[in-house]
Amino acid sequence: MIGATKDGVPISVTGLGARVPDRIVTNDELARHVDTTNEWIIERTGIRERRMASEEEALSDVALPACRDALAQAGIDGKDIDLLIVATVTPDMTFPSTGAILADRLGAVAAAAYDLSAGCTGFMYALAQAYGMLAAGLARRALVVGGDVLSRILDWEDRSTLILFGDGAGAAVLEEAREHGFLGFELGADGAGGANLWLPGSGSRLFEEPDQYVKMNGREVYKFATRILVQSAQDLLDRCGVAVEEVDVYVPHQANIRIIDHATKKLGIPSERVVVNVDRYGNTSSGSIPLALADAAKEGRLGPGKLVLMTGMGAGLTWGSALLRWTGENIA
Ligand code: ACO
Repeated sequence: MIGATKDGVPISVTGLGARVPDRIVTNDELARHVDTTNEWIIERTGIRERRMASEEEALSDVALPACRDALAQAGIDGKDIDLLIVATVTPDMTFPSTGAILADRLGAVAAAAYDLSAGCTGFMYALAQAYGMLAAGLARRALVVGGDVLSRILDWEDRSTLILFGDGAGAAVLEEAREHGFLGFELGADGAGGANLWLPGSGSRLFEEPDQYVKMNGREVYKFATRILVQSAQDLLDRCGVAVEEVDVYVPHQANIRIIDHATKKLGIPSERVVVNVDRYGNTSSGSIPLALADAAKEGRLGPGKLVLMTGMGAGLTWGSALLRWTGENIA
């Protein structure tokens, strides 16, 4: 799916929030559980530490403060939201949805609320869905959440996955704006590659050897990631008639610094325009892009008029890009 949004109702982001759990887990701590080293992890991934939820914390607990911050920044309450989408692969439970749980805790009594599953690309899918519903007039104010507590499905005996992931969540308020914020979206999925990153036995398909933990073919996902981050971004820029030189802030999925560096170089984006926090948080799956976006805002990199390119990729295999002109409404 690809499309420029020029003719629709102008929709933009008016509030952002992000949260990670307090507990910091260093590479050295992981090296006490699996055969790895701090040096190997930093050299191959760029990750220095990640956050992990406590036993009491589920996704809704991690996401709730991020939602509250996003609503406060937009100057609205939960009751003003009429659409709440949570992108995640680690909801509190299969049902009720974490969307419904958060709607209740936020007092969003008028909101349609649900979860969306598109791996680490989930936040990009959710942004596009919310944009479409707002632009069509089905909803007026959306809260789009991306977050995961991936530590719950990590195998503490598998060094190839344990070192990569962390927990965190981010949230964005979308509503009608004076100027166009979103300029376009490109989303895709290739189910044929699904078994390269999966959790067999986590649903209605029965497996002889079901698993509780993420299984990944790292090399295949690496090849896919380096190709798709570039292709998706280029296709969207072409469709929107925007040159890569015009991109002020590039927010790629935070999976591995080598993947980010590769995409940045191929696209021809100067490194000072790239947002990187994989060193502090690891890969937070659906939380990755909203956390990075909120970091960029906190660092003052998202002034009015700035053009933001976001691209995610992940389980599915899925991918998605969005181009957003930062209108800065309500956001200091
Ligand atoms: N510590 C030490 N050695 C390790 C570790 C580790 N944690 N993990 C693997 N190795 C070893 C391997 O066993 C291998 O040893 P061998 O040569 O004796 O066989 C060697 O290191 C090299 O292994 P590679 O797999 O070639 O290492 P690579 O440089 O490709 O890095 C990595 C592995 C980091 C997993 C990389 O492939 C990667 O980042 N892939 C993408 C993963 C990803 O982004 N997944 C998330 C997608 S988004 C989502 O939806 C969740």
